[in-house]
Amino acid sequence: MEKDKQESHRVAISGDVEVSAYLGIAKERKGAQPQAEPQEKLGTEREAVAVIDFGSQYSWLIARRVRECRVYCEVVPHDAPWDSVAALRPKGFILSGGPSSVYEPGAPQAPAYVYESRLPVLGICYGMQLIAYQLGGKVAKGVKREYGLAILHQNSTNTPLFSGLPSEIPVWMSHCDRIEEMPPGFVSLAYTENSPVAAMGNEYGTIGLQFHPEVAHTPQGKAILQNFLYKICGCNGNWTPGSFVTESIERIKEQVGKGRVICALSGGVDSSVVATLIHHAIGDQLTCIFVNTGMLRREEVSRTLNTFQKNMKMNLVYVDASERFLKRLAGVIDPEEKRHIIGEEFVRVFEEEAAKIGQVDFLAQGTLYPDVIESASSGSKAVAIIKTHHNVGGLPSRMKLSLVEPLRYLFKDEVREVGLALGLTEDMVYRQPFPGPGLAIRIIGDVTKERLEILRAADWIVMNEIKKAKLYRQLWQSFAVLTPVRSVGVMGDSRTYGYMVAVRAVTSEDAMTADWARLPYDVLAQISNRIVNEVPEVNRVVYDISSKPPSTIEWE
Ligand code: XMP
Repeated sequence: MEKDKQESHRVAISGDVEVSAYLGIAKERKGAQPQAEPQEKLGTEREAVAVIDFGSQYSWLIARRVRECRVYCEVVPHDAPWDSVAALRPKGFILSGGPSSVYEPGAPQAPAYVYESRLPVLGICYGMQLIAYQLGGKVAKGVKREYGLAILHQNSTNTPLFSGLPSEIPVWMSHCDRIEEMPPGFVSLAYTENSPVAAMGNEYGTIGLQFHPEVAHTPQGKAILQNFLYKICGCNGNWTPGSFVTESIERIKEQVGKGRVICALSGGVDSSVVATLIHHAIGDQLTCIFVNTGMLRREEVSRTLNTFQKNMKMNLVYVDASERFLKRLAGVIDPEEKRHIIGEEFVRVFEEEAAKIGQVDFLAQGTLYPDVIESASSGSKAVAIIKTHHNVGGLPSRMKLSLVEPLRYLFKDEVREVGLALGLTEDMVYRQPFPGPGLAIRIIGDVTKERLEILRAADWIVMNEIKKAKLYRQLWQSFAVLTPVRSVGVMGDSRTYGYMVAVRAVTSEDAMTADWARLPYDVLAQISNRIVNEVPEVNRVVYDISSKPPSTIEWE
């Protein structure tokens, strides 16, 4: 089998040109590509590459960087059949790193079409070792594990992959195995102290890199990827998340036909963009259900109704279910129980409303690309459950509806760009994340109507002051938490015995880790002054200076 793959590649190479020296530019290849589906019906000739995933934690980061170079890209599992990859019409492949060693029994291999297509290939770390192994070279256990920064020295000054870069650059290494012998037709492009072949290539644009160009620790990594995409794959870099809109609208129309779609609208970025996109595609065939759990922030209901019902004229069912939620939450103080109750009640309300609509065929969800990649690659990994996140898109499979997930190939910031391209306001598109269970998990202890009102008032002040100080978009989240602690204070000449509110503001890239924000003292002072003056039940404000880990962003 392996031999066959190598043979087919060799035949492919020697069929067109003589293998001599690496020129760095993929030579013109005639007719050998497996046939992909025509893309004309999407109305665009989109440039794309496929990242073949071998289980690296960095695969999504490769996709991220490629899209930053304005080339569309998807991560596909290493055993994905050609048909599913062909739909992308890739102009090249990137083989990710991975935890395996090429000689291990059962180690994942690059599929034959990667080599047979004769498209440019960039193998990163394990991906490079696979190229060496599958095309007839030798991979050996490194004498030393090479981990961390290394200096990459180029062997030649005119390698297109390194075009525009100095001849020595810092790169990030994380590998043990290394290339002992390159496959026939390959030349070494660069070396480091521990890796004599830190980059190699052949004249067809099949390239291997031992280092990781996708990580921030390789400062010129993006330039290297861009060189691969533009100079070797021949991409122009004209993809934008905005161009995704036209394509998505066509796809949604095609998928839904004359069917009916329902969508849980929360007013958050993802559900707002999903609803708007689908509404653009199928208009009144979409019905959005907006459930007021009673745990929403001030003005959230009116804002959402104004945007979608009044301005966009969407079919929108609004349900004020706050009494129901409050009743079920009465006396509940355990955070997980709160989450469970809210999740369950939400589904009940949603199902009741959906039943009133009549025949429904599709459920729209705001699934994003990181969720897709994560669920595809998490496999059997046991992950300790810290919080069982309930979010408004997470509806049960018993509803037996087909899913419409137009954002499933987008990263969060791309969703924002799509939102703007669809005409949503910046205010809407740059909203900070808000958890599905809402204010219930920001009231420590019992959730009551009175406490919700107190928190709403304090939260409103935090948000407005943060916006006024122009800090809102720099922060991942900023909000108020109502603690059950009451303390003594003095106002005028009177003793008070009021609640303590905590202010939480964090910076983060992805919510996996977060740092408490160093808010200016005068902003904190203004927030504190306003809360104690404008919210009579509160007489003390504290600022949360814990990071995640060991704390979490939300208090519950
Ligand atoms: P933690 O508190 O786990 O929060 O550090 C990480 C991110 O997740 C949000 N979060 C939730 N989102 N349902 C959600 O939809 C939930 O139950 C939930 N709990 C936390 C949180 O706001 C932060 O952005």
